[in-house]
Amino acid sequence: MHIAVIGTGYVGLVTGACFTEMGNDVVCVDVDENKLARLRRGEIPIYEPGLEPIVSSAIANGLLHFSDDVGAALTRAEYVFIAVGTPPGEDGGADLQYVLAAARSIGRHLQHYAVIVNKSTVPVGTAEQVREAIEQELIRRDMKIEFDVVSNPEFLKEGVAVEDFMRPDRVIVGTDSERARERMALLYAPYLMSSDRLLVMGVRDAEMTKYAANAMLATRISFMNEVANLCDRMGVDVDNVRRGIGSDRRIGYSFIYPGCGYGGSCFPKDVKALIHMSREHAFEPLMLEAVESRNQRQKQVLFEKMERFFGGELAGRQIGVWGLAFKPGTDDMREASSVVLIKALIEAGARVKAYDPVALESAAREFPSEWLADGRLSLLEYQYDVLKGADAMVLLTEWKRFRQPDFEAMKDLMRTPVVFDGRNQYDPHAMAEYGFCYFGIGRGNRSVA
Ligand SMILES: NC(=O)c1ccc[n+]([C@@H]2O[C@H](COP(=O)([O-])OP(=O)(O)OC[C@H]3O[C@@H](n4cnc5c(N)ncnc54)[C@H](O)[C@@H]3O)[C@@H](O)[C@H]2O)c1
Repeated sequence: MHIAVIGTGYVGLVTGACFTEMGNDVVCVDVDENKLARLRRGEIPIYEPGLEPIVSSAIANGLLHFSDDVGAALTRAEYVFIAVGTPPGEDGGADLQYVLAAARSIGRHLQHYAVIVNKSTVPVGTAEQVREAIEQELIRRDMKIEFDVVSNPEFLKEGVAVEDFMRPDRVIVGTDSERARERMALLYAPYLMSSDRLLVMGVRDAEMTKYAANAMLATRISFMNEVANLCDRMGVDVDNVRRGIGSDRRIGYSFIYPGCGYGGSCFPKDVKALIHMSREHAFEPLMLEAVESRNQRQKQVLFEKMERFFGGELAGRQIGVWGLAFKPGTDDMREASSVVLIKALIEAGARVKAYDPVALESAAREFPSEWLADGRLSLLEYQYDVLKGADAMVLLTEWKRFRQPDFEAMKDLMRTPVVFDGRNQYDPHAMAEYGFCYFGIGRGNRSVA
């Protein structure tokens, strides 16, 4: 099949590459010339395990092409995916300018029937706006071409995106058109061979499903963070509570890890967008607002613990940070908790040395360049280097390589053996035995709760 994908970011590139795995011919379109040039050379602009070999092999086999020319990409396309960003606008609502620009470019170039598939996360009613934008362009061209607009929200997780795309829990297709339903079922059939996991529903239902899924996951995290903060004040270890409730099959273990707040390109913006949608419909979203404010407060929790530990004297302290990406398995820094904490530490007069296995380059773009130039912030390539002379170490991203570090070496390198564990990776008793002053999230340590 011939497929065009407009927007070659995390979602567009994974989608395009994974479609070539089944033999489809894919043109990935983007407006970012620099990104396209790198991709044509076989360089992957993002860190996503397993993606590089798929892209290289598809390029070598002539199945994957990169272009800035929507017209050329649409020449043979039977499916046109929209996978551009939908960042939050100033009012918290999703900014649809990129989606609608993509829709207009489709309208300017469409030559024959195609299924227009919206993969971007978009507010309820966007498919109708996309249809309208395409129709307006067709009218301008004095052309009558049939097309369907389908909602096909993406549920991949950065870090395991290829696996998620190749073996999805389900594929959601929102459409009222029988023709589009059949086409979408054909396209996804190879990914759903073991059982029928194609869920067909109304377009608006599909658009809402994506937001509800992310809001539910964010709710679980914020709920657990709230419980953890209470545990801190009551001498309770939240990790025991987590295991105690996770073993209940009605609850399960997923997304109940307390920590220093959720980040990434999806949860924060999608919860905000759902709040915005609620208000637009004169509905007060009590739970969603609480989920969002708990998360914003949670990003302050480590700073508050550190401030209390150092008696309000953070100026001149040196802090070593392990982990910058918003979660392991990605170099994505969007809304990462590390940005909030590092900014607060530096503004309080501390110096920060930080390490991340893959996100150093993307992290450098998140901070003022003068901080990097004058050494208030150093981004270092070796995990243990950030601990030399440190007054405290903070773990912010739970990369596997941080799970069993050389604790003796850490202690020797640090000026004072103090660990703030933002992801509850270490055992408080073992840390005490190693001689660390250890603070997790909700581990019942009342002195710095
Ligand atoms: N990243 C994720 O984990 C994830 C998961 C599920 C859904 N989503 C959703 O998918 C959408 C895309 O997210 P992303 O993380 O891939 O974004 P991204 O920012 O990584 O990529 C978007 C790309 O679209 C390009 N673009 C913008 N306007 C364009 C245009 N008019 N024509 C062609 N290209 C254009 C940009 O240059 C960029 O390369 C968002 O709505 C997001 O919420 C993301």
